[in-house]
Amino acid sequence: MAIPTPRDVQLAVVDWLDSRFPFTEVVDESLTQRVPNYANAFYYCFGGMVFILIVLQIVTGIFLAFYYVPDGAGNPAPAYTSVNFIINHVYLGWLIRGIRFWSANLLIVMVVLHMARVYWTGSYRAPRELNWMVGVTMMFLVLVFSLTGYLLPWDTKAYWATSVTIKIAGSPPVIGPIDIGGWTKLLLQGGPVEGPETLQRFFAIHVFLLPALIIVLMYVHFRLIREHGISEPL
Ligand code: HEM
Repeated sequence: MAIPTPRDVQLAVVDWLDSRFPFTEVVDESLTQRVPNYANAFYYCFGGMVFILIVLQIVTGIFLAFYYVPDGAGNPAPAYTSVNFIINHVYLGWLIRGIRFWSANLLIVMVVLHMARVYWTGSYRAPRELNWMVGVTMMFLVLVFSLTGYLLPWDTKAYWATSVTIKIAGSPPVIGPIDIGGWTKLLLQGGPVEGPETLQRFFAIHVFLLPALIIVLMYVHFRLIREHGISEPL
Protein backbone atom coordinates (compact mmCIF):
# COMPACT_ATOMS: atom_id res chain seq x y z
CA MET A 1 0.00 0.00 0.00
CA ALA A 2 1.31 3.47 -0.94
CA ILE A 3 2.36 5.65 1.97
CA PRO A 4 -0.15 8.56 2.29
CA THR A 5 1.29 11.99 1.55
CA PRO A 6 0.58 14.97 3.85
CA ARG A 7 -1.93 16.14 1.20
CA ASP A 8 -3.82 12.79 1.37
CA VAL A 9 -4.03 13.14 5.14
CA GLN A 10 -5.23 16.74 4.81
CA LEU A 11 -7.96 15.75 2.31
CA ALA A 12 -9.05 12.83 4.46
CA VAL A 13 -9.40 15.09 7.52
CA VAL A 14 -11.31 17.75 5.55
CA ASP A 15 -13.60 15.09 4.00
CA TRP A 16 -14.24 13.61 7.42
CA LEU A 17 -15.15 17.02 8.85
CA ASP A 18 -17.20 18.08 5.78
CA SER A 19 -19.32 14.93 5.90
CA ARG A 20 -20.35 15.93 9.45
CA PHE A 21 -20.79 19.68 8.88
CA PRO A 22 -20.28 21.72 5.66
CA PHE A 23 -17.14 23.47 7.02
CA THR A 24 -15.55 24.13 3.58
CA GLU A 25 -18.74 25.73 2.28
CA VAL A 26 -19.22 27.89 5.39
CA VAL A 27 -15.57 29.05 5.43
CA ASP A 28 -15.60 29.80 1.66
CA GLU A 29 -18.85 31.68 2.02
CA SER A 30 -17.62 33.79 4.94
CA LEU A 31 -14.11 34.54 3.66
CA THR A 32 -14.82 35.47 0.05
CA GLN A 33 -16.75 38.43 -1.26
CA ARG A 34 -16.31 40.42 -4.44
CA VAL A 35 -15.41 44.02 -3.64
CA PRO A 36 -15.87 46.84 -6.17
CA ASN A 37 -12.73 48.49 -7.61
CA TYR A 38 -13.35 51.89 -6.03
CA ALA A 39 -12.91 50.25 -2.60
CA ASN A 40 -9.18 50.00 -3.44
CA ALA A 41 -8.71 53.69 -2.58
CA PHE A 42 -6.46 53.93 0.50
CA TYR A 43 -9.11 55.57 2.68
CA TYR A 44 -11.22 52.40 2.57
CA CYS A 45 -8.54 50.60 4.60
CA PHE A 46 -9.10 52.39 7.91
CA GLY A 47 -11.91 50.09 9.11
CA GLY A 48 -9.70 47.06 8.45
CA MET A 49 -6.82 48.75 10.30
CA VAL A 50 -9.13 49.29 13.27
CA PHE A 51 -10.01 45.60 13.21
CA ILE A 52 -6.35 44.50 13.05
CA LEU A 53 -5.44 46.83 15.93
CA ILE A 54 -8.30 45.48 18.06
CA VAL A 55 -7.07 41.93 17.42
CA LEU A 56 -3.56 43.08 18.42
CA GLN A 57 -4.97 44.52 21.65
CA ILE A 58 -6.67 41.21 22.42
CA VAL A 59 -3.49 39.19 21.74
CA THR A 60 -1.12 41.47 23.71
CA GLY A 61 -3.74 41.72 26.48
CA ILE A 62 -3.77 37.94 26.85
CA PHE A 63 0.05 37.94 27.10
CA LEU A 64 0.02 40.66 29.77
CA ALA A 65 -2.68 38.78 31.70
CA PHE A 66 -0.19 35.91 32.13
CA TYR A 67 1.68 38.14 34.62
CA TYR A 68 -0.55 41.07 35.55
CA VAL A 69 -2.22 40.79 38.98
CA PRO A 70 -4.93 43.40 39.62
CA ASP A 71 -5.43 42.88 43.31
CA GLY A 72 -4.17 40.83 46.23
CA ALA A 73 -7.13 40.38 48.60
CA GLY A 74 -8.07 44.05 48.85
CA ASN A 75 -4.47 45.20 48.41
CA PRO A 76 -3.82 46.83 45.00
CA ALA A 77 0.00 46.89 45.31
CA PRO A 78 0.46 43.80 43.07
CA ALA A 79 -1.03 45.77 40.15
CA TYR A 80 1.90 48.17 40.29
CA THR A 81 4.59 45.61 41.07
CA SER A 82 3.36 43.13 38.46
CA VAL A 83 3.52 45.79 35.71
CA ASN A 84 7.08 46.64 36.83
CA PHE A 85 7.92 42.95 36.77
CA ILE A 86 6.54 42.65 33.21
CA ILE A 87 8.66 45.57 31.97
CA ASN A 88 11.90 44.67 33.76
CA HIS A 89 12.00 40.89 34.12
CA VAL A 90 9.57 39.09 31.81
CA TYR A 91 11.20 38.04 28.51
CA LEU A 92 10.17 40.68 25.91
CA GLY A 93 7.57 41.99 28.38
CA TRP A 94 8.65 45.57 27.64
CA LEU A 95 8.07 44.93 23.94
CA ILE A 96 4.58 43.48 24.39
CA ARG A 97 3.62 46.40 26.63
CA GLY A 98 5.13 48.89 24.17
CA ILE A 99 3.31 47.37 21.19
CA ARG A 100 0.10 47.48 23.18
CA PHE A 101 0.64 51.11 24.19
CA TRP A 102 1.36 52.35 20.66
CA SER A 103 -1.31 50.26 18.96
CA ALA A 104 -3.90 51.50 21.49
CA ASN A 105 -3.02 55.09 20.56
CA LEU A 106 -3.02 54.28 16.85
CA LEU A 107 -6.41 52.61 17.30
CA ILE A 108 -8.01 55.88 18.41
CA VAL A 109 -6.47 57.67 15.39
CA MET A 110 -7.73 54.95 13.00
CA VAL A 111 -11.25 54.98 14.47
CA VAL A 112 -11.41 58.75 13.90
CA LEU A 113 -10.06 58.39 10.31
CA HIS A 114 -12.51 55.53 9.59
CA MET A 115 -15.43 57.56 10.90
CA ALA A 116 -14.28 60.58 8.88
CA ARG A 117 -14.10 58.44 5.71
CA VAL A 118 -17.60 57.04 6.31
CA TYR A 119 -18.89 60.56 6.83
CA TRP A 120 -17.00 61.97 3.84
CA THR A 121 -18.32 59.32 1.43
CA GLY A 122 -21.86 59.78 2.86
CA SER A 123 -21.94 56.10 3.87
CA TYR A 124 -24.04 56.80 6.97
CA ARG A 125 -27.13 57.27 4.76
CA ALA A 126 -29.93 54.74 4.16
CA PRO A 127 -29.71 51.79 4.40
CA ARG A 128 -26.54 52.09 6.52
CA GLU A 129 -27.83 54.24 9.42
CA LEU A 130 -28.00 51.26 11.76
CA ASN A 131 -24.38 50.41 11.01
CA TRP A 132 -23.39 54.01 11.73
CA MET A 133 -25.10 53.65 15.14
CA VAL A 134 -23.31 50.36 15.79
CA GLY A 135 -20.08 52.19 14.85
CA VAL A 136 -20.73 55.06 17.25
CA THR A 137 -21.42 52.54 20.04
CA MET A 138 -18.10 50.79 19.28
CA MET A 139 -16.31 54.12 19.31
CA PHE A 140 -17.62 54.74 22.84
CA LEU A 141 -16.54 51.24 23.84
CA VAL A 142 -13.02 51.99 22.54
CA LEU A 143 -12.96 55.14 24.68
CA VAL A 144 -14.17 53.24 27.76
CA PHE A 145 -11.44 50.66 27.02
CA SER A 146 -8.87 53.47 27.17
CA LEU A 147 -10.26 55.00 30.37
CA THR A 148 -10.51 51.70 32.26
CA GLY A 149 -7.13 50.43 30.98
CA TYR A 150 -5.40 53.60 32.11
CA LEU A 151 -5.98 52.78 35.80
CA LEU A 152 -4.59 49.24 35.65
CA PRO A 153 -0.84 50.05 36.16
CA TRP A 154 -1.95 51.67 39.45
CA ASP A 155 0.79 54.31 39.45
CA THR A 156 0.31 57.93 40.50
CA LYS A 157 -0.56 59.08 36.98
CA ALA A 158 -3.15 56.32 36.60
CA TYR A 159 -4.68 57.03 40.01
CA TRP A 160 -5.14 60.77 39.54
CA ALA A 161 -6.21 60.54 35.89
CA THR A 162 -8.94 58.12 36.96
CA SER A 163 -10.03 60.38 39.78
CA VAL A 164 -10.71 63.02 37.07
CA THR A 165 -12.60 60.41 34.96
CA ILE A 166 -14.75 59.43 37.93
CA LYS A 167 -15.38 63.06 38.82
CA ILE A 168 -16.66 63.74 35.29
CA ALA A 169 -18.77 60.56 35.29
CA GLY A 170 -20.22 61.69 38.63
CA SER A 171 -21.17 65.15 37.43
CA PRO A 172 -24.71 64.56 36.02
CA PRO A 173 -27.31 66.31 38.18
CA VAL A 174 -29.92 64.94 40.57
CA ILE A 175 -33.17 64.49 38.65
CA GLY A 176 -36.20 64.15 40.93
CA PRO A 177 -35.41 61.43 43.45
CA ILE A 178 -32.55 60.01 41.35
CA ASP A 179 -28.98 61.16 41.96
CA ILE A 180 -27.61 60.02 38.58
CA GLY A 181 -24.08 61.39 39.13
CA GLY A 182 -23.81 60.06 42.67
CA TRP A 183 -24.94 56.58 41.67
CA THR A 184 -22.64 56.45 38.67
CA LYS A 185 -19.71 57.50 40.84
CA LEU A 186 -20.50 54.91 43.48
CA LEU A 187 -20.96 52.22 40.85
CA LEU A 188 -17.60 52.96 39.23
CA GLN A 189 -15.68 53.58 42.44
CA GLY A 190 -17.14 50.66 44.39
CA GLY A 191 -17.04 52.73 47.60
CA PRO A 192 -16.77 56.24 49.02
CA VAL A 193 -13.20 56.76 47.75
CA GLU A 194 -11.10 55.53 44.81
CA GLY A 195 -9.37 52.38 46.06
CA PRO A 196 -8.85 48.62 45.54
CA GLU A 197 -12.54 48.12 44.70
CA THR A 198 -12.24 50.68 41.89
CA LEU A 199 -9.26 48.86 40.42
CA GLN A 200 -11.07 45.52 40.61
CA ARG A 201 -14.12 46.97 38.85
CA PHE A 202 -12.13 48.70 36.13
CA PHE A 203 -10.20 45.48 35.57
CA ALA A 204 -13.39 43.40 35.23
CA ILE A 205 -14.94 45.94 32.85
CA HIS A 206 -11.71 46.15 30.82
CA VAL A 207 -11.01 42.43 30.39
CA PHE A 208 -14.47 40.79 30.50
CA LEU A 209 -17.33 43.17 29.76
CA LEU A 210 -15.86 45.38 27.01
CA PRO A 211 -14.18 42.63 24.92
CA ALA A 212 -17.42 40.61 24.94
CA LEU A 213 -19.47 43.63 23.84
CA ILE A 214 -17.07 44.77 21.13
CA ILE A 215 -16.71 41.28 19.64
CA VAL A 216 -20.49 40.96 19.34
CA LEU A 217 -20.78 44.46 17.83
CA MET A 218 -17.94 43.87 15.35
CA TYR A 219 -19.75 40.73 14.20
CA VAL A 220 -22.96 42.76 13.70
CA HIS A 221 -20.95 45.54 11.93
CA PHE A 222 -19.42 43.06 9.47
CA ARG A 223 -22.71 41.21 8.85
CA LEU A 224 -24.36 44.52 7.99
CA ILE A 225 -21.47 45.50 5.69
CA ARG A 226 -21.84 42.19 3.84
CA GLU A 227 -25.59 42.69 3.63
CA HIS A 228 -25.27 46.19 2.10
CA GLY A 229 -21.92 45.90 0.29
CA ILE A 230 -19.47 48.81 0.41
CA SER A 231 -21.22 52.09 -0.40
CA GLU A 232 -20.59 53.73 -3.78
CA PRO A 233 -18.56 56.95 -3.92
CA LEU A 234 -20.71 60.09 -3.97
C1 HEM B 1 -14.47 50.48 16.37
C2 HEM B 1 -14.44 49.49 15.55
C3 HEM B 1 -14.78 49.48 14.09
C4 HEM B 1 -14.38 48.50 13.23
C5 HEM B 1 -13.54 47.26 13.56
C6 HEM B 1 -14.91 48.86 11.93
C7 HEM B 1 -14.66 48.12 10.77
C8 HEM B 1 -15.19 48.44 9.52
C9 HEM B 1 -14.77 47.86 8.26
C10 HEM B 1 -13.67 46.81 8.09
C11 HEM B 1 -15.54 48.41 7.29
C12 HEM B 1 -15.43 48.12 5.78
C13 HEM B 1 -15.06 49.38 4.98
C14 HEM B 1 -13.88 50.15 5.49
O1 HEM B 1 -12.95 49.52 6.02
O2 HEM B 1 -13.90 51.39 5.38
C15 HEM B 1 -16.46 49.31 7.93
C16 HEM B 1 -17.48 50.02 7.29
C17 HEM B 1 -18.35 50.88 7.92
N1 HEM B 1 -18.21 51.40 9.20
FE1 HEM B 1 -16.92 50.73 10.60
N2 HEM B 1 -15.65 50.01 12.02
C18 HEM B 1 -15.57 50.46 13.33
C19 HEM B 1 -16.10 51.65 13.81
C20 HEM B 1 -16.98 52.45 13.11
C21 HEM B 1 -17.42 53.77 13.51
C22 HEM B 1 -16.92 54.51 14.75
C23 HEM B 1 -18.35 54.18 12.58
C24 HEM B 1 -19.15 55.45 12.52
C25 HEM B 1 -19.58 56.08 13.56
C26 HEM B 1 -18.48 53.12 11.60
C27 HEM B 1 -19.35 53.10 10.53
C28 HEM B 1 -19.23 52.30 9.42
C29 HEM B 1 -20.12 52.33 8.26
C30 HEM B 1 -21.40 53.17 8.11
C31 HEM B 1 -19.57 51.43 7.33
C32 HEM B 1 -20.10 51.12 5.91
C33 HEM B 1 -19.30 52.00 4.97
C34 HEM B 1 -19.56 51.78 3.52
O3 HEM B 1 -20.41 50.95 3.16
O4 HEM B 1 -18.90 52.46 2.72
N3 HEM B 1 -17.60 52.12 11.93
N4 HEM B 1 -16.22 49.34 9.29
